[in-house]
Amino acid sequence: MVIDRLRAVVNLDNLIYNYELLKKLNQGKEIFAVVKADAYGHGAKMCSLYLQKHGCNYFAVTVLKEAIELRDSGINKEILIFGKTDPLNSSYLVEHDLCQTVFSYDYAEELNRYGKKIRVHLIIDTGMSRLGILYHKEAQIDNVVNEIKKISKLPNIEIVGIYSHFVSSDSDKELTAYQQKLFNELLKRLKSEKISYGLVHLQNSSGVVTIKNIDYDLARCGIALYGYPPVKTEDKFLPVMSVFAKVISLRQIEAGDSVSYGRTFVAKDEMTIATIAIGYADGYMRILSNNDYFYYKGYELPVVGRICMGMTMVNVTGVEIKEGAEVEVFGERKLLEPMAKRALTITYELLTNLAKPRIDKIYINK
Ligand SMILES: Cc1ncc(COP(=O)(O)O)c(C=O)c1O
Repeated sequence: MVIDRLRAVVNLDNLIYNYELLKKLNQGKEIFAVVKADAYGHGAKMCSLYLQKHGCNYFAVTVLKEAIELRDSGINKEILIFGKTDPLNSSYLVEHDLCQTVFSYDYAEELNRYGKKIRVHLIIDTGMSRLGILYHKEAQIDNVVNEIKKISKLPNIEIVGIYSHFVSSDSDKELTAYQQKLFNELLKRLKSEKISYGLVHLQNSSGVVTIKNIDYDLARCGIALYGYPPVKTEDKFLPVMSVFAKVISLRQIEAGDSVSYGRTFVAKDEMTIATIAIGYADGYMRILSNNDYFYYKGYELPVVGRICMGMTMVNVTGVEIKEGAEVEVFGERKLLEPMAKRALTITYELLTNLAKPRIDKIYINK
């Protein structure tokens, strides 16, 4: 079947380039490739297989289903689940040799009841207030150590890692340093009490880019792997995905004619309108109505009127363009960061919005 609407071109060489760059910035240490949400919309199976082929030994996802899909696709390296797996699904963890994040003694105890060894990474909440053993203040360290001690005594729970997650490593140096200090103090205490905790990891993408001289075993990187470090940096990351959508219809309209639902755009003069095969059901956010453009052969084609579920109209007046032509929604020639600003969101959301089966992905590499 030919591609009749839109396609995402995923450049696997750029993915590996970013991966190698992150490893270099992380002092040669390994990277947990964060491939949750279908590798931020890039296709978890293909991206993970290519990363594995190029030496990546660690993968992270949020959901058990994502982890099983990776195993079934041929990923035979470590797969960590960030989210909560229902203890009733413990058999899947064992059967697929997956690693589960554990955030409390109670949860660990429930997993322990399954009766077979489950490998876990502990998560410590040093400020996110999301998941993890609560440790926002130095005074809470004894509780944390006691909780971990209890977990470490569960016969079917094997602690193979420990981590925490930065709140604002892209914007708040002080808080980031405080989280790091809490985390380091904890590691020191665990060491002195001879509680083994396995691999240590703390940084995300912005942590790797901004903090030098951290000496943990690994870092967990998502967004920079795909080409978009969330902080300004001299290091050049390369965008991995470009999205192209087809012109499916063209029309001339006259002054006074409106475009799309709600008449939010009314033509002042005669103009040429192209209908593009992408809409909010494809992840192209409706908030970009009258507030974005598509790239075509040096032209910026402004979006006019409201974005529809599967179509968007652009102004192509004076541009030589035909039905079947492809415009760039974002990628190498149209940058994602300013588009995310216009959509009042972050690159993460624009990318993960594209994790949809209705978007064909084409993978390229040398
Ligand atoms: C626990 C955890 N670690 C690492 C990451 C990767 O973060 P980033 O994409 O900013 O590198 C995420 C993603 O949000 C996460 O939830």
